[in-house]
Amino acid sequence: MVVAIDGPAGSGKGTITKIISQRMGLVNLDTGATYRCVALASLRAELTLKDEEKIVDLIDSLDIELEHQNGEIKVILNGEDVSKEIRTAEVTGIVSQISSIVPVRLKMVELQRKLAKGKDVIMEGRDIGTYVFPNAEVKIYLDADVSERARRRYKENQEKGIKCTYEEVLDNILKRDENDKHKEIGSLKVADGATILDSTNMTIDEVADEVEKIIKKAI
Ligand code: DC
Repeated sequence: MVVAIDGPAGSGKGTITKIISQRMGLVNLDTGATYRCVALASLRAELTLKDEEKIVDLIDSLDIELEHQNGEIKVILNGEDVSKEIRTAEVTGIVSQISSIVPVRLKMVELQRKLAKGKDVIMEGRDIGTYVFPNAEVKIYLDADVSERARRRYKENQEKGIKCTYEEVLDNILKRDENDKHKEIGSLKVADGATILDSTNMTIDEVADEVEKIIKKAI
């Protein structure tokens, strides 16, 4: 079974996916993390967005794994735990553009389908219900006002010790939203048959309860 949770940056997908995976025993697959690994590896190889071909070639040397430990996902890149490094402002600043490169998307989608094979999964991303698993049993589009999304992401960064200002977070989210909605393939949009959930004025528990209800109804 596939539960697809799509939506823009900061809409709460990560938090909700984690809660629901624990409540319902589903494997949590964070597809954004796979693009973040490519962005991190590109930065480390000192490649810029102009080096598209080299970035695509680089992917063949990357082994990306998502490990699950005590309810947390560990992102492993070539044997190294990069769970923290993939969330830095540097990576966040280029990841949307990296994920717009068509061959990068094709390779990551292939990997994401492989990671989900034979499992009951809850996958969060931008194109899970539209492109990666268009036949997903459950599709949810999680949304919220942009200022609320920026506020949440800013708070999360503060808690994780990631340095930034609210304005920087808002600016990054606005740019990523714009870029994520206009990709050649797998752009951010509401999938056919998806339930739209606006979490602007909801608590995390309220959203999680609603998502659980939608999943239970579908299965
Ligand atoms: O969810 P996130 O912020 O970790 O995602 C990082 C970037 O990856 C985001 O800007 C868009 C891209 N992405 C994507 O294009 N498709 C997905 N399924 C997941 C993420």
